[in-house]
Amino acid sequence: MCGITGYCGPRPAAKVLLEGLKRLEYRGYDSAGICVAEEEGLRLIKREGKIRRLIEKVPTNIKGNTGIGHTRWATHGRVNDLNAHPHLDCSGNIALVHNGIIENYSGLKEKLESEGHVFLSETDSEVIVHLVEKFYQGSLEEAVKEALALLKGTYGIVCMHRDHPGLLIGARNGSPLVLGVGNGEMFLASDVTAIISYTKAVVYLEDGEVVTLTAAEYKTTDLSDREIEKKVEAVSWELEEIEKGGYSFFMEKEIFEQPEAIKRGVSGRIDLEQATAHLGGLNMSNRDLLNIERVRITAAGTSYYAGMVGAYLLESVARVPCTVELASELRYRNPIVERNTLHFAVSQSGETADTLYALRELQRKGATVLGICNVVGSSIARESDGGVYIHSGPEIAVASTKAFTSQITVFYLFAMLLGRMRHLSYEAGLELAHELQAIPTRVEQILAKQKSIKELAAKYAHYKNFLFLGRGINYPVAMEGALKLKEISYIHAEGYSAAEIKHGPIALINEETPSFFLVPDDGLKEKVISNMKEVKSRGGRILAVAVEGENSLNNIADDIIEIPKLKNGLFYPFLMVVPLQLFAYYCALDLGRDVDHPRNLAKSVTVE
Ligand code: M6R
Repeated sequence: MCGITGYCGPRPAAKVLLEGLKRLEYRGYDSAGICVAEEEGLRLIKREGKIRRLIEKVPTNIKGNTGIGHTRWATHGRVNDLNAHPHLDCSGNIALVHNGIIENYSGLKEKLESEGHVFLSETDSEVIVHLVEKFYQGSLEEAVKEALALLKGTYGIVCMHRDHPGLLIGARNGSPLVLGVGNGEMFLASDVTAIISYTKAVVYLEDGEVVTLTAAEYKTTDLSDREIEKKVEAVSWELEEIEKGGYSFFMEKEIFEQPEAIKRGVSGRIDLEQATAHLGGLNMSNRDLLNIERVRITAAGTSYYAGMVGAYLLESVARVPCTVELASELRYRNPIVERNTLHFAVSQSGETADTLYALRELQRKGATVLGICNVVGSSIARESDGGVYIHSGPEIAVASTKAFTSQITVFYLFAMLLGRMRHLSYEAGLELAHELQAIPTRVEQILAKQKSIKELAAKYAHYKNFLFLGRGINYPVAMEGALKLKEISYIHAEGYSAAEIKHGPIALINEETPSFFLVPDDGLKEKVISNMKEVKSRGGRILAVAVEGENSLNNIADDIIEIPKLKNGLFYPFLMVVPLQLFAYYCALDLGRDVDHPRNLAKSVTVE
């Protein structure tokens, strides 16, 4: 988690670092800090809280053209000024920022303390800067490499030394670090959003790589000093995409970007002539695809729920058995990798540690793992055997919205592709293709109801507990709706299969616990309505997302959000999830929450 910035060049470093940190704030917002090389020595400024609090503390006259910055999501040590990064060595000559977790820090700390090093923070990160101090004999690069060789765990670091004011050393092992190559200036950051207002030429560091940079040049090596040739890549994201552009919050912007994002995900991938989909990047021949006997999907959070929708689709459209598993569980249960099983690792950021480690475990056992990612060049995108980018554009808000609808878009395409290689007829494939192409317009119709959903949220935001209930392909959508509500409004919410509540959760039903039912007009409609009646007869309040003109709910539901009717019920997850995203967003607004920065969370979870 945590965001790192580094700058070397002609500009005032503090300004560049703070601007970068603001863009990286979604990675963590417990505390922030910068360190700049001034003529008199290193100038360190750090503060608990969000970047704006740090900015208040940074004097406008701060000089220096090289520096490092950090925004923290606390793992080791409380949230306070002292635990904020950068950390200094005992002499105050060396400064370092770190993202990741050093697992063997306590042993190292004990040893360093016995050698006379004095620690000021409770963090694991501080050991690294003291190790660099211990090994420093004139070459910062060498000292950093010696220090890194002793670490167990994950890191993205940037280090600077007072005696080398135009030099930065960056390194990565398990936590992302990107180099931005400018014209006479260099940047380091945890991701490209902190860099693209200056340069779109980037170098993605791999695990085990160290970059040594000045304003004019850079060199990449491994820990044994072997030089590594790196490709400079061009970032396709535009600056406007990472700005709020008139919206109050990134989450709001991203909800409203969904029609465009889905269009982009579909664009160029549907072949109407063959009634199938084309997905470049899979690195699989038609024969390979035909040989798939099973699919296993792994992911975390919202991506996991998208995977559940994907599994439902692959089984019903392509008739390929499919399972979904939380990446955090899969990794540690010695998973069985069977021949002819295709694996998917789904991740918006492509950096989620649980998902990345699950991917590595599967690959180690010989599995083929495809990535479904948004962030180009991310770890999962690079380490997977192939995959599909969802192309939803940068997702900045901690609560994932457009990534979900774009991820499921990819699953609809993949199910079409696999289905058409098997039993799915041309006509059925064509119907799926047309329905998918029409989804962006349908989503726009729902977004146009924002005002009424806002009013509904105002009516319900004071409740303390909610149930979200759906069945079939909309069951994961119910869980996603509950996740959205709880993570940004802090209202307790649970997502269940509507059928399952009678096995326990129905005990929670009373006037104070509203139930949000998802009622598509598919084969399960009558079953869901029965479940609604069970709640109604126990005095529960009922909200429903239901298809336009569904009069049978009028005497059951207290409030209804109407969605357009679809020809093919399989596509309702797109339409069901959008009202739930808006409902969660407006409840959070009503309660005065900081929607984009929910408490205790960060956007990409790069620690286990
Ligand atoms: O980047 P990823 O898709 O791998 O992230 C997975 C989860 O951490 C993420 O979806 C999380 O649950 C979001 N906060 C949900 O809104």
